[in-house]
Amino acid sequence: MSETDVYGLLIDGESVPAASGKTFTTYDPATEEPLAEVARGAEADIDRAVESGREAFEKWRTTPPEERGRLLTRLATAIQNDIDRLTELEVRDNGKPLSQARADVEGCARYFEYYAGIADKIHGDTIPLTHGYTDYTIHEPLGVTGQIIPWNFPINLVGRTTAPALAAGNVAVAKPAEETSLSALEVGKLAVDVGFPSGVLNVIPGFGAEAGAALASHPDVNGISFTGSVATGRQVAKLAADNVTPTHLELGGKSPNVVFPDADLDVALDETIKAIFGTNAGQVCSAGSRLLVHKEIHDVFVDELAKRTADLSIGPGSDDPNVGPLVSADQYEKVQKYVNIGRSEVGDPIVGGDAPHRNGYFIRPTIFDNVDNGMRIAQEEIFGPVLSVIEFENDDEAIELANDVDYGLVAGIFTTDVGRAHRFARDVDAGQVYVNEWFAGGVETPFGGYKQSGIGREKGLEAIESYTQVKNVCLKIDQ
Ligand code: NAI
Ligand code: MG
Repeated sequence: MSETDVYGLLIDGESVPAASGKTFTTYDPATEEPLAEVARGAEADIDRAVESGREAFEKWRTTPPEERGRLLTRLATAIQNDIDRLTELEVRDNGKPLSQARADVEGCARYFEYYAGIADKIHGDTIPLTHGYTDYTIHEPLGVTGQIIPWNFPINLVGRTTAPALAAGNVAVAKPAEETSLSALEVGKLAVDVGFPSGVLNVIPGFGAEAGAALASHPDVNGISFTGSVATGRQVAKLAADNVTPTHLELGGKSPNVVFPDADLDVALDETIKAIFGTNAGQVCSAGSRLLVHKEIHDVFVDELAKRTADLSIGPGSDDPNVGPLVSADQYEKVQKYVNIGRSEVGDPIVGGDAPHRNGYFIRPTIFDNVDNGMRIAQEEIFGPVLSVIEFENDDEAIELANDVDYGLVAGIFTTDVGRAHRFARDVDAGQVYVNEWFAGGVETPFGGYKQSGIGREKGLEAIESYTQVKNVCLKIDQ
């Protein structure tokens, strides 16, 4: 670590220390070595950022929408141009494999590009009241919005949460996760470099109970977007409720990946691996963490899955393996705890279950077979490379099992029977349904949870609704 590896808060276009003068250390999870010192934002800093945002909002909301769009495009280009540096930083701070981090940086740029195009197309309706009236609606920004971001897709989620906010004329105060603050600060600096007015995008790293809670409970914040655990989401919503601040929650999942005998099994195997092991070591809210496999193919499918899983490479993100380390010691311990719970519930895993002997928070991809859907490893979000396999006999049982959890984020089905795929899509409780490809969709497709997986939608045009409020104007025009 050198003198230059001290990151300030980004308030009003300037990198500044925390009011308390405190910093915290961010670590490289592949080596457990310190990576940088980061200013430890707390209530006083959130106050400053919100105040700066409030001032900037008056200017930003009246900036011509096409000009806002152009700035978002410039930011997208700047992120894309800086992709090598940002990717390397993300790999070191989060641990994820290089090619996955690169895709996340591209995704971040793509969010700014996508929402740039909508900045000048957010319009209302005219409503045909009786002859004597003219009635129309306007979609106005909320004002100062707060984005509380988790550590699993740090830079990608900065784009996902702030780009629609800014496009719609809001200003943003982003609070990255304490495990992974660096890339959000870099995006904020690039926004300043490309000409965003100061205060439009503030970035306040810090701990959840300090900076996060201060943002969620701030009386002058007009909208909160939170991504993370259900428990913290509930707390954030309660804090925001005191000020009747609209809150939009992207929480966890225990998503069913359902494989039928009529599927292309080779594709289903690859996608199953991508769904739970090959993407961010399973630390994904939309991971396919429950494999529901038809009885007729159970043995052959699970045997081959175990073989392919055992062949996955595991190592530091900089080597671009299939599976990198988990993000932190806490997450490593949480996943280890669930592996032990799995052992007590169903016995030894058919593959994995151990941690390679080296520094860093590595856990080998792990599969528990013959899991009962009522077990904890089938009901609770593990958020790591651990898959629970559950057998089913027919379509009705598949949908029953798929829906028998508190979550409802995504669901996937592998089948070549079109009717079966559509029936599943109709009957499953999930905000996104994947057919024959896991993580199908993109920046353009609305994303969010049923049941305890969340409230509201991000991505796509739906995100703009979360960041605007409707004003109806009614004129009596007849004398
Ligand atoms: P978390 O939900 O506590 O943290 C997410 C964000 O919320 C971070 O920025 C954190 O600083 C902030 N935060 C924490 N406490 C807060 C509070 N009281 N008020 C306001 N903000 C607060 O998640 P954590 O502890 O990092 O991970 C625990 C589990 O959460 C994981 O094992 C996983 O199951 C789940 N999770 C789900 C994610 C998702 O994408 N749905 C992302 C990260 C974690
Ligand atoms: Mg780190």
